[in-house]
Amino acid sequence: MEKEKVILTGDRPTGKLHIGHYVGSLRRRVELQNSGLYKKIFVFEADAQALTDNIDNPEKVRQNVIEVALDYLAVGLDPQKSTLFIQSQIPELCELSFYFMDLVSVSRLQRNPTVKTEIQLRNFESSIPVGFFTYPISQAADITAFKATTVPVGEDQEPMLEQAREIVRRFNYIYGETLVEPNILLPENCACKRLPGTDGKAKMSKSLGNCIYLADSADEVWQKVRSMYTDPTHLKVSDPGKLEGNCVFTYLDAFCQDEHFGRYLPEYANLDELKAHYTRGGLGDMKVKKFLNAVLQEELTPIRERRAEFAKDIPAVYDILKRGCEKARETAAQTLDEVRRAMKINYFEDAALIEEQSRRFNG
Ligand code: TRP
Repeated sequence: MEKEKVILTGDRPTGKLHIGHYVGSLRRRVELQNSGLYKKIFVFEADAQALTDNIDNPEKVRQNVIEVALDYLAVGLDPQKSTLFIQSQIPELCELSFYFMDLVSVSRLQRNPTVKTEIQLRNFESSIPVGFFTYPISQAADITAFKATTVPVGEDQEPMLEQAREIVRRFNYIYGETLVEPNILLPENCACKRLPGTDGKAKMSKSLGNCIYLADSADEVWQKVRSMYTDPTHLKVSDPGKLEGNCVFTYLDAFCQDEHFGRYLPEYANLDELKAHYTRGGLGDMKVKKFLNAVLQEELTPIRERRAEFAKDIPAVYDILKRGCEKARETAAQTLDEVRRAMKINYFEDAALIEEQSRRFNG
């Protein structure tokens, strides 16, 4: 039986989205949305998950819900094709998480590599909030409540998907075939998997101040590109330059296509030629940065303009989210009906149960 494919993915609304999110997932989501290969597409803001480590900062999450919604619309997610919604508005997700909690052991959660690193990152150690510790379970609920077959996310989310699949297998084994095992869909291009920050550090992150945001103005983008980390030993134009760890080239790997050379740097046919010249020596950083800027502006300008356009009518953006929540809830409610039936906690809709109990007590 060929299952109809359903996409679900989301982001924590803890900041505006940046070009790392864009190449790592947003760009792909829009392609998938427009491919016509998927029966349903759900994209959501994991605000409740964001609160698991921002519990004392609800305002941050509240402010960023609208920023992320604007980013979604700006990149081309289309509410006619993709259901855009907010996690906290779907109470079925809490209910499903609660049932899933019985299917996962504490030691299994402790072994989840993503949880492990995040605990270290946030200095939680022994004071981990239970909700944070169990967020892989809640994430499994996010995915399975919509019977998602396909979850396009970065490779850091792989342990979450593995955990979700285990939960589904266990649930279906105990209660009968009810839920769908999801598959991860990773970014294809290596440079896209984890775009480094403009300072060359491993990851773009708001706290490091090394991000280029989708909302940045053309000038902000250029200022950030101009001061990007390259090869610190490449002092004179004539010096040979290194590509490894040189994030200007990593960004070009993620964004540049051959056509860009025709438009902005016709002396070279493609990125390989540019790289060869750089490593040989005789190519200055500024020239490469100007080219990268042209490439980035070409991709980011329409996004920035669409974002500004949507921002003119904020009530309409909230309305899109509200309608998305209503639609998402219908699907989640349907799954939860099936889950309760499978778990035998559907007392009032089960005429056979009432009859059976009547017979048991009255012969
Ligand atoms: N954990 C994801 C992130 O930090 C966000 C997320 C929550 C998610 N639930 C999800 C992603 C379900 C995909 C599917 O980016």
